[in-house]
Amino acid sequence: VSRLDSFIRRLQAQRAVLDWAATVVRNLPGVALELGLGNGRTFSHLREKLPGREIFAFDRADNAHPDSKPPASHLILGEFSETLPAFAKRHPRAACLVHCDTGSGDVAATARQAEWLSGIAPLLACPGGLVLSDQPLLHPALVSCPAVKDVPQGRYFVYTASPG
Ligand SMILES: C[S@@+](CC[C@H](N)C(=O)[O-])C[C@H]1O[C@@H](n2cnc3c(N)ncnc32)[C@H](O)[C@@H]1O
Repeated sequence: VSRLDSFIRRLQAQRAVLDWAATVVRNLPGVALELGLGNGRTFSHLREKLPGREIFAFDRADNAHPDSKPPASHLILGEFSETLPAFAKRHPRAACLVHCDTGSGDVAATARQAEWLSGIAPLLACPGGLVLSDQPLLHPALVSCPAVKDVPQGRYFVYTASPG
């Protein structure tokens, strides 16, 4: 598989998961969280698929396309290690959807970060809320969901936050 094909497949999987998740959370209350605003592509997609939903985006830097970012009130800049615990404290388990798109070319750092995100995600997601991730997460409070249609196993990761 060429790198172009693999890139395209990853983005197709990402879009399929976001589309599916938007329908699942449609009737759930709560905010949506985008962890890793980056260029703003997936933020822009979530905003389109979740009309009227309050979405907060997190990143260490504001590199998003001007058309693809939230208002300043909903853009939370800084290291996840600072911003996410603070948000969870202010808004405990307030998100019906948490999208983690945080991977980088550094495989070891990405895995370490996924391990850390595994611990914070259950403090952000509401009971029954969805946690989507480009990396596998591992935590007893995150229950792995069955594969989403058109998304091969292991390409994107979907969890439900446990009620407890
Ligand atoms: C793969 S990119 C996100 C792409 C974005 N979702 C899009 O569709 O355009 C990952 C982003 O996560 C951010 N990030 C990674 N680790 C972070 C950390 N520890 N704290 C804050 N931001 C972080 C990076 O700055 C980067 O912009």
